[in-house]
Amino acid sequence: MWAMIGTWRMALEAIDQVVKSDECKKDAGSAIVKAIKQIEDFEYFKSVGYGGLPNEDMDVELDAGYMNGDTLAFGAIMAVRDIKNPIEVAYALSKEYTSCLLASAGASRFARNHGFQQKDMLSPRAKLHYLKRMKEERQVELKPYIGHDTVGICALDEKGSLCAGTSTSGLFMKKAGRVGDSPILGSGYYADSDYGCCSATGLGEDLMKGCISFQVVELLKQGIPVQEACSQALQALHDRLLRKQGKVGDLSIVALDKNGNFGVATNIDNFSFVYASKTQAPTVYLVKKQNGKMELEVASQQWLNDYLTTRMAAIEL
Ligand code: GLY
Repeated sequence: MWAMIGTWRMALEAIDQVVKSDECKKDAGSAIVKAIKQIEDFEYFKSVGYGGLPNEDMDVELDAGYMNGDTLAFGAIMAVRDIKNPIEVAYALSKEYTSCLLASAGASRFARNHGFQQKDMLSPRAKLHYLKRMKEERQVELKPYIGHDTVGICALDEKGSLCAGTSTSGLFMKKAGRVGDSPILGSGYYADSDYGCCSATGLGEDLMKGCISFQVVELLKQGIPVQEACSQALQALHDRLLRKQGKVGDLSIVALDKNGNFGVATNIDNFSFVYASKTQAPTVYLVKKQNGKMELEVASQQWLNDYLTTRMAAIEL
């Protein structure tokens, strides 16, 4: 068996590519890196890689993480500027035993010294988004994007290896140096080939309070089925945050068990994700909330097209 699951509809073309190339059968890790790299390079996704929206100083600061579930090795970079593909650097860092989580200037230096491509990551389009926001009221609450956010991908290959990876530009207009859940092991991503893997998207500050990805894998370790593990972990965090802080941000997770079955949970309406496996072509699902219950709906072709049209629409200042 092999399987892949990715957050948001934005993972579709990238997962489709690695499925076609058979990468996902052979090597979960390189399938994840290839898929996330493609998403980082697509400038119309404004929450990942090139085209990602900047912080309040108009600097694009990127985070990425990667974990190998066979060895528990992980690598991550945070608040890094001018590196074209953060996921590649996170993957390279997962080969290091120490100094595998690097921040800002140190992460950039590692990337440069290891020959990773540099690039000014502020796209003209992202600059327009920034200038538009500057004309609007400044004091708006920082929220995850509507309809997309961090890309998080979990994969299982035919050798039985499970891996997880993430990449994000974090919250639009965040403070310089702000880091969310995506590069934080156990929060944005976690993988253990004996049990399963999980990745998260949404408000990093709240996701980190539950170490949500680690929590899901712990429930899998207890033998809880993957859908139940996701629902249970997410609901528990949602309720705890509501009780303790009186509010809760957007929280969504995707997971695979060691047999390639998927689980998903969210506290928002219309969370989308992509799943593909040996027995299923890449499919985009929408998660609908009906009377507090979660229902999965396969996205229509019209919805898939509208999504891209909206992302690629002209920006008027
Ligand atoms: N989940 C992405 C972030 O909070 O930065």
